[in-house]
Amino acid sequence: MTENKSQVIKNDPWFGSYASRAEGMRASEIRALFAVASRPEVVSLAGGMPYLDYLPFDELSELVAKMLREQGTKAWQYGSAQGDPHLRERILDIIRLEHITDAQADDVVITNGSQSGLDLITRIMCNPGDVIIAEDPNYVGALGVFRSFQTEVVNAHMDADGLIPQSFEEAIKTSIAQGKHVKFLYTVPNFHNPAGVTMSVERRPQILEIARKYHVLVVEDNPYGLLSFEDKTYPALRSYDADNVVYLSSFSKIIAPGMRVAWMIAPPGIRQKLVLGNESAILCPPNMSQMTISTYLDNFDWKQQIKEYRGMYKSRCDAMDDALHTYMPYCQWNKPRGGFYMWVKIPDGLDAKAMLPRAVTARVAYVSGTAFYDNGQGADHMRLSFCYPTEDEIREGIRRLSTVVDDELSTAQLFGTTSIEKH
Ligand SMILES: Cc1ncc(COP(=O)(O)O)c(C=O)c1O
Repeated sequence: MTENKSQVIKNDPWFGSYASRAEGMRASEIRALFAVASRPEVVSLAGGMPYLDYLPFDELSELVAKMLREQGTKAWQYGSAQGDPHLRERILDIIRLEHITDAQADDVVITNGSQSGLDLITRIMCNPGDVIIAEDPNYVGALGVFRSFQTEVVNAHMDADGLIPQSFEEAIKTSIAQGKHVKFLYTVPNFHNPAGVTMSVERRPQILEIARKYHVLVVEDNPYGLLSFEDKTYPALRSYDADNVVYLSSFSKIIAPGMRVAWMIAPPGIRQKLVLGNESAILCPPNMSQMTISTYLDNFDWKQQIKEYRGMYKSRCDAMDDALHTYMPYCQWNKPRGGFYMWVKIPDGLDAKAMLPRAVTARVAYVSGTAFYDNGQGADHMRLSFCYPTEDEIREGIRRLSTVVDDELSTAQLFGTTSIEKH
């Protein structure tokens, strides 16, 4: 027995008892970073926490207290596994902004955050070894779910216009040729986490056509869609196709993640399974959170609130883009049209994962691109979040980061391991 293994057994007497599906479970690189990144002296460009200070907390607290008095025990009681009917009605107003006009409240299933929705859809669709096609790079939380169900993730590539249809079709064909069962495409079409890019409107019907051709379900994960920096909202994939798309969105980024309230819209057969899945995992989503969200939606101008968020996140994105141009012009990135993230390619010869401890010592944190792959790729990228720090903090964070990247680049130039000329 290796020393490592015996050490694990010593620390965990249940080491030999876990189901094989637990083997792939491990702490994400992002979680491991949280402890250091949240020290006050560190500018964190790492996490994806929304900035909540704009919420009307005082008025909201009073209204929630009133709601709790008026609703009696309802908020404290078990509820429906599908979710509160009033909230499901209110969600129809939100999805209309993304051109989904044909859904009914009965098509909506409330989940404990979209994270739980991703778990449910994978649980009901996938056997071990089934293929999920996912964008490359991929949302780290989805990767964790897919791993825990022992699925195989096959990458399809993106460019500045999001998922490339030919690459999607190629991934399906290759998997089928290998005798594999392709269960769904997992896509984040708007303001991708971590890549920052958005699927062009032209590509959306093309992707759906390919999915239909091979009878592959499309799982559209869209927590950022309303946080566009332009004066427009992109049509959801679900708005083109009610039969082949499972749509997920969440209140986490537009109101508050602490409520853990999100929703899915699915065709009837899948929706029934999702409700049963919700029942077996959690019995029902919490009434208290759902009614708090409804109180907010019923009493505040939530569209105006989202507009303010868009303005704020846009200014922060602009500040990051400017600072990158000033301090790290030798990096490459696409400026996002919305959302929270910038996906930055560092000069060749540099390693974002190896560089991270030096960055934290320089009091700035980011997420290494390796977190968004299952195969060790991604060391040539950093994910930088502009959602939480202020504009000044972002500028200072990028300045600090540039001192680390500059040093690394000088060393790489000295040893001839990069082709990049600095400044
Ligand atoms: C693409 C994507 N999907 C899902 C989630 C999870 O969201 P929720 O807070 O609703 O569980 C996140 C959170 O960062 C995300 O970025």
